[in-house]
Amino acid sequence: MTVHALFPTRVYTCALQRNGSRELNRMLVKECRQLRADDLAGRRWSKRNYPGGYTSYGSAHRLQLVSPTFQQLQSRLERHIAAFAAAVEWDLTGRRLTMTDCWVNIMPAGTMHGLHLHPLASVSGTYYVRVPAGSPGLKFEDPRLDRFMAAPPRKAAATPKSRPWITFPAESGRLVLFESWLRHEVAANTADDERISVSFNYNWF
Ligand code: NI
Repeated sequence: MTVHALFPTRVYTCALQRNGSRELNRMLVKECRQLRADDLAGRRWSKRNYPGGYTSYGSAHRLQLVSPTFQQLQSRLERHIAAFAAAVEWDLTGRRLTMTDCWVNIMPAGTMHGLHLHPLASVSGTYYVRVPAGSPGLKFEDPRLDRFMAAPPRKAAATPKSRPWITFPAESGRLVLFESWLRHEVAANTADDERISVSFNYNWF
């Protein structure tokens, strides 16, 4: 007898690099906070779409093109994107995955980010810059939930591959990659301190 596990959903987690994250993160924290101070349009956008927090998603979302620090992050992400593309066995013949967007998220205490996916992208991900103890991770939802109809619930102690939701802890210096159609959310930040991350999209051209 064989029970096959088919149609996997891949989520990639890894440290960005072996060494040097502390210095990169120090510069990123500085630039993220400076951007928040300078970016009036972004603060207005965040007020409507990201209550309590700041994101440059609606205002400055191509930071890899304007900041050498974010460009450095982009170049360090390259090998991870290639490894993810290999893991999902994409045939990219004649095309390559290119970073289209890269933006900042600052979540003070109480800020949350509801369920969403990333349209117009192939791979998306987040790099964690500053993660105070107790701040939330990234929660993924089983993409087949809307088809379950009369399926019984999974056991509370089910193995991770059978659970309908999985949360990956956020850790500074580490990144998470996933296919852009996979819905995810970040619960409210219950730490009494700012959680800072940089998110990005890649498309294939
Ligand atoms: Ni997202």
